[in-house]
Amino acid sequence: MSSSSPSLARDTHAGHSAQRLTGRVAVVTGASSGIGAATARRLAADGAAVALLGRRAERLRALADELGPTTTAPILLVTTDLADPKAIDTAARTITATLGPADLVHVGSVAGHSLYPGWSVCCATKSAVAHLTRNLRAELGPRGVRGKNIEPGVTVTELGHDMRDISMQTSLPRMRTDLRPLTAEDIAGTIAFAVSVPAHVNGAELVVVPVQQG
Ligand SMILES: NC(=O)c1ccc[n+]([C@@H]2O[C@H](COP(=O)([O-])OP(=O)(O)OC[C@H]3O[C@@H](n4cnc5c(N)ncnc54)[C@H](OP(=O)(O)O)[C@@H]3O)[C@@H](O)[C@H]2O)c1
Repeated sequence: MSSSSPSLARDTHAGHSAQRLTGRVAVVTGASSGIGAATARRLAADGAAVALLGRRAERLRALADELGPTTTAPILLVTTDLADPKAIDTAARTITATLGPADLVHVGSVAGHSLYPGWSVCCATKSAVAHLTRNLRAELGPRGVRGKNIEPGVTVTELGHDMRDISMQTSLPRMRTDLRPLTAEDIAGTIAFAVSVPAHVNGAELVVVPVQQG
């Protein structure tokens, strides 16, 4: 997830039972924290095999140890730096060989649509995620592959904890206290819903915001 991008494999029909994702494969980038960790927990609970990706191996190990006893589906730990193209290729090969092929759910942001002074680069990357997903839909839809972009609003996670800009260090916490923010579990629930609809349905773009964010 440079755009944190949980992805789910095998575009097969899934029902709505408690284990509605049994037989599916989820590849969760950024699984060591925030939205990714919550998504890994939720998709594992719904029966999917889950690959956990991130750089902090100890976090991924702790999550794998937590999830392992709760599911009969495989939990695969893949410590990797997704800023490294070779590492991405290696991770993809490892996952495909171990769990099977994956297709993609992107996590963008409302910042891909809205104007946030001081966040220009972030907003531009989120717009790129949105349009990349649309174009992938056009390219891959005819082959039966769904692409979708979930766009969260203000969500409480570790995002921003390493920001160096002083004004950002104060403005981000204020965004989270000026309203009732979303939790990572709120986004994970949306992703679980999005991947569980019948195979001929694609909820292609989902904006999920705190009510007070408007
Ligand atoms: N929180 C919000 O309000 C909000 C709103 C809209 C959109 N989003 C988007 O949602 C996504 C997830 O954010 P979050 O809020 O869950 O943030 P977070 O808690 O900071 O999680 C970010 C995750 O990305 C992983 N990551 C970062 N760089 C990586 C790299 N080079 N290689 C592999 N993994 C890397 C981190 O793992 P390691 O450090 O272990 O590598 C971590 O697990 C982001 O794309 C964010 O822009 C968040």
